[in-house]
Amino acid sequence: MDLDELPGVGPAIAEKLREAGFNSLEAIAVASPMELVATVEIGEATASKIISAAREAADIGGFETGDKILERRHNIGKLTTGSKSLDELIGGGLETQALTEFYGEFGSGKTQIAHQLAVNVQLPPEKGGLNGSAIIIDTENTFRPDRIKDMSEGAELDYNDVLKNIHVARAYNSNHQILLVEKAGELAEELKATEKPVRLMIIDYI
Ligand SMILES: Nc1ncnc2c1ncn2[C@@H]1O[C@H](COP(=O)(O)OP(=O)(O)O)[C@@H](O)[C@H]1O
Ligand SMILES: [Mg+2]
Repeated sequence: MDLDELPGVGPAIAEKLREAGFNSLEAIAVASPMELVATVEIGEATASKIISAAREAADIGGFETGDKILERRHNIGKLTTGSKSLDELIGGGLETQALTEFYGEFGSGKTQIAHQLAVNVQLPPEKGGLNGSAIIIDTENTFRPDRIKDMSEGAELDYNDVLKNIHVARAYNSNHQILLVEKAGELAEELKATEKPVRLMIIDYI
């Protein structure tokens, strides 16, 4: 279902919604009426109607049983940071199906770790990788392919192959960043059945 098909939403309102970042049924389903009123110049009653319809149409998840969650946790992969001590500190590496946040002052090495992880994720599991590719959303223009080249050589990988499995986009502001996260989902879907499905998304930084 497309946004235009929601009751009360014509092409013009759909366009405004998308521009404001409400570019999926899910995004509208979890919005409050006042948010829509503020961004799309519609009345509160219309906004409520749109949200209700989006809630019915969207897949916003729900409850699941503990055994299903346990089954999913059995499939958690671990990605090495390349540093044994750091891996130990965070419980054996970065977990899949999870968010890991690195914080630290300017120059403390966050971007370097991000580069290293984009290389490591491509390694086979026996070398601490996930046999996958990486997506990088770069807000500060600090992605350096030549650094990837150095790190690939350190890991005895062909840097051309490694670079081909790193998908980088520049984000110009926070709305653009949200848009790129959605695009990243599409890209991950596209690469799902390939040799190198996306196993890591890096946002440097929010
Ligand atoms: N090619 C390199 N080899 C070794 N260290 C490097 C290299 N490039 C950058 N660094 C080091 O990485 C640090 C910068 O870290 P960076 O990841 O950019 O920080 P942050 O993203 O946390 O601001 C600097 O101390 C710099 O010396
Ligand atoms: Mg940085």
